[in-house]
Amino acid sequence: MKSALITGITGQDGSYLAEHLLEKGYEVFGFVRRTSTPNYWRIEGILDKIELIDGDLTDQGSISRALKECNPDEVYSLGAQSFVGSSFNDPVHTGNVTGLGVMRLLESVRQFNKDIRVYQASSSEMFGKVAETPQKESTPFHPRSPYGVAKVYGYWASVNYRESYDMHVSNGILFNHESPRRGIEFVTRKITDAVARIYHGKQEKLFLGNLDAKRDWGFAGDYVEAMHLMLQQDFPDDYVISTGETHSVKEFVELSFGHVGLDWEKYVEVDQRFIRPAEVELLLGDPAKAKEKLGWSAKTSFKELVEMMVDADLKRVE
Ligand code: NAP
Ligand code: GDD
Repeated sequence: MKSALITGITGQDGSYLAEHLLEKGYEVFGFVRRTSTPNYWRIEGILDKIELIDGDLTDQGSISRALKECNPDEVYSLGAQSFVGSSFNDPVHTGNVTGLGVMRLLESVRQFNKDIRVYQASSSEMFGKVAETPQKESTPFHPRSPYGVAKVYGYWASVNYRESYDMHVSNGILFNHESPRRGIEFVTRKITDAVARIYHGKQEKLFLGNLDAKRDWGFAGDYVEAMHLMLQQDFPDDYVISTGETHSVKEFVELSFGHVGLDWEKYVEVDQRFIRPAEVELLLGDPAKAKEKLGWSAKTSFKELVEMMVDADLKRVE
């Protein structure tokens, strides 16, 4: 039986990945930080099937101890301060967790057992002010936030450990992916939660920032399959994971309100508080390499994703 350690298991992707690996017969370990109130809502259904190990990505000793405790075949590096908006307010903390945290993990793996395969959760935010469209593995990076800067550090740390120590470390350059388990601060979930609350008479307005930003949005459940596939390849590599379609925030809003028969223009207002100091205007990924080498492609359409999220929030709010 193969085993895997997932950092960030309490997050959106960690929860879907844990389920996917359990289905594949893995023994699954999760690296979790202590919080004053447990935040296990996303992994509640699998708590009896996984093992949680305490630690923090800012604490090198705790990472090394976790590796010794579970001795995994694979490590999935998903743990991060992942919200771009907050990274402008806590840039040093974001750098410490999202950037240096990756280096700590790689170094602990190298010292413990450099044959462990590692997946690094890199991001389309690294492309930032995009040099070309669509973005592919060879597109130069130009990050536009402290989060993006930290992800570029984690990306290059991963490439460096692969080249220096011949380690099996792969970067998934994932474009935005969402689900009913998405954190409420991200724009998609903020919208679908508001639609449900407005529909049920519990909220009057939805305040948003830049409605013209465009993203290549996919479903998280599809994307975790690509993470696993990368670690099953003979050689480590970097892969763009995306749908190959882009849509504006406004389109997401229109479709979400439209799904419950509401006219979005009556409810949505632009609020300067949600405009970022620097914006990533357009992301559109080219997933050709992932399709060719991994046999992976996104299964869920934009419309299916929006409706899945609105329906889940309607049920929850009700
Ligand atoms: P998420 O829901 O925000 O989850 C982040 C996870 O990291 C949580 O489990 C969180 O734990 C953990 N974490 C935060 N700080 C930590 C620390 N100091 N030590 C240990 N763990 C810590 O993010 P996600 O959407 O699942 O994304 C997973 C990864 O993919 C992240 O690295 C993200 O940056 C990257 N990524 C995401 C997307 C996307 O569209 N979702 C796209 C590209 C890349 P708590 O529950 O305790 O907060
Ligand atoms: N969060 C938020 N809230 N975003 C808003 C709002 C709002 O009220 N109004 C407009 N937006 C715009 C943002 O300015 C951005 O252009 C876009 O909606 C998407 O914002 P988020 O959903 O916060 O995601 P993100 O694209 O910044 O970052 C996500 O995707 C990255 C991959 O490209 C995160 O999951 C990152 O961790 C991930 O790496």
